[in-house]
Order: sequence, then C-alpha cells, then structure tokens
Amino acid sequence: MGDDDPTSRASPVPDRVAVIVPAAGAGTRMGGLPKQFRLLGGAPVLVRTLEAFAAHPAIDALVVPVPAAEQRAAEAMLSAYGLAAHVVVGGATRQASVGEGLKAVPEGTGIVLVHDAARPFVVADRIAAVVAAVRAHGAAALAVPVADTLRRGRGETFGETVSREGLYAMQTPQGARLDWLRAAHAAAEADGTTGTDEVELLQRAGYPVQVVEGDPRNLKLTRPADWALAEALWERRAQREG
Ligand code: CTP
Ligand code: MG
Repeated sequence: MGDDDPTSRASPVPDRVAVIVPAAGAGTRMGGLPKQFRLLGGAPVLVRTLEAFAAHPAIDALVVPVPAAEQRAAEAMLSAYGLAAHVVVGGATRQASVGEGLKAVPEGTGIVLVHDAARPFVVADRIAAVVAAVRAHGAAALAVPVADTLRRGRGETFGETVSREGLYAMQTPQGARLDWLRAAHAAAEADGTTGTDEVELLQRAGYPVQVVEGDPRNLKLTRPADWALAEALWERRAQREG
C-alpha cells in the first residue's frame, strides 16, 4: 500500500469500552427522592448499578450524567464508595443526558454502552454478551421476548389482540461503536427528534442493532410497586452471595 492510502496510516481502532449510566432523571413515576439515590440494601441504587460495571473486566470507564444540583454530592458519594467515574451534568431528557455523557467518554474509547442507573440488577454475563455482540456487529442491545398477552385498549373496554410474535421488551445495556452512537445522536439532534433508547436512534440513523437475550430480573425501577420487588430481590441476592 502506498503512502497516500489513508487506511495504511489510520490509527488502530480503539477498543476500550466506556459505559454511560444516565442518572439525571427526577423519578416522577416512582415519587419521593429520585430513585437512583434511594438506598437499596444500604447503598444508593446508582452505586449498586455502577458496582456491576466497575467490577467488570470488559469495562474501562464509567461516565455518569446527574442532575446539575447533584453533581458535587454525586462525586463525593461515588468516591466514598471507591468508584472512579466521570460525573457530568445531564440534560432535560434521557437522550440529552446520554448526549452529555458522549462528550465525556475518555480518549481511546471505541465502544460505548448505555445502561439505566435505575437497573441495579444487571449481571456480569449479560454485560459481557453485549460487549461481545458490539465487537462482532457494531451495535447490540438486551431484550426479552414479551410474555404477556397484548391487547389494545378501546375506551374502557378492550380492543384488538396484538400478536406478541417477534415482540421484545427492551432492556439496557445497549451499546455501539462510539462513532455510530455519536453519529446517531448527532442525527437526532439535527432533526430535533427524541427516542426513548439508543436502539431507536441507531436504527433511525441506519445502523442495524443485534438482539442479545436479556434477563427478566434486570428490571428497571419505575413505579412504587417496583421498589418492594427490588428490595426482595436484593435481599435474596445478598443471601445467596453471603
Ligand atoms: N434519565 C436521565 N436524564 C433525564 C431523564 C432520565 O439521565 N433527563 C435517566 C434516569 O435517571 C434513569 C434512566 O434515564 O436512570 C431511565 O429513565 P426513567 O426510568 O424514565 O427515569 P426517570 O426519568 O427519572 O423517571 P420518570 O420518567 O418516572 O420521571
Ligand atoms: Mg423518564
């Protein structure tokens, strides 16, 4: 290859993996103290979630968007738990918070995962599976096949039954090559569109996303009833590990 072939001088694709853990929400459906700061088994949910990634051999950096008013407190809290993270100020939507996180991923990062702070039950083997699928295919996300019968509402009675064939409930982590995710976010910002997750933005920008089997226990703490379930699950997990 000649000297003017740009590929011959291209630097190697960086292979470090960063995870953005958006934690800048208000938790309005759950109510009370924003759920990511509530204590689960004696430590904040955000700490529980970050511990899963900090301990993981495939993960090199943690980036955590938080509400502007909480930045200092969050930095102090994470260092008290021995968690080294880049704490940044999030935005008005989850997408905007992830966008702020994307600006803060360290040099040398080639792959980015995004994982909700409100999903503290993520397990190591699912993190590894998403990273491996991103390396192989460029983008990937956890999802579980829908188990319940689905039906539309029609006023106060039921409307049509919706086939659940081929339908997934999405989870996180979701991840992609850093260049794909940055391009997908930039495209959404340029058209002023908002998606509820990374997959939606990646697909709109034309990037296919690989399905990776999720875990039904990887629940997102969303409504008050989820809190009781989370406490029971955490206690069971602590007993098994203790
Ligand atoms: N999130 C964020 N920035 C926002 C909104 C949400 O970083 N502006 C984060 C939340 O902190 C959470 C994750 O995105 O970890 C998933 O969002 P969700 O479960 O909807 O949390 P909240 O937006 O806080 O809750 P709600 O929608 O009930 O207000
Ligand atoms: Mg929300």
